[in-house]
Amino acid sequence: MGMTNSGKAKEIQVFHGPNLNLLGTREPEVYGTTTLAEIDGALRAQGLDAGLEVKCFQTNREGELIDEVHACREHADGILINPGGLTHTSVSLRDALLSVDIPFVEVHLSNVYARESFRRHSYLSDVAVGIVSGFGPASYRLGFDALVTHLDCSTV
Ligand code: DQA
Repeated sequence: MGMTNSGKAKEIQVFHGPNLNLLGTREPEVYGTTTLAEIDGALRAQGLDAGLEVKCFQTNREGELIDEVHACREHADGILINPGGLTHTSVSLRDALLSVDIPFVEVHLSNVYARESFRRHSYLSDVAVGIVSGFGPASYRLGFDALVTHLDCSTV
């Protein structure tokens, strides 16, 4: 089981940025019809299989996301994040992730390189463990798997 030194199950914090609460109905031709609750449910199940605790949080507010990144320093071993549009705009989110020094994987439902040119730049990618982009909801599953492999804390 993925344990820390204290014998506590390791914890993955999942963050979703702005507009991802509308998944399911938001631009379904780009983002599909899976809801955020379904994505979170699948990640929790994936965590259970690996003996990990999974916490999920979505917000439309940049400052609130930064506060939650700070707060998770107390308990998270790894972060899986879809920053939404903040990917392309937020130096502050980058700084927050660097401040807490927790390994993170950046995920996107859509292939951000196959869309408008402004989506090709990310303020996070170069400081992420890695990125997964373009596989719809499977991006989260693959990113979670990659993060767990990186942390080397899976039971499977
Ligand atoms: C996104 C891609 C971003 O460019 C966009 O602003 C989003 C969603 C994705 O998951 O494909 O909100 O992060």
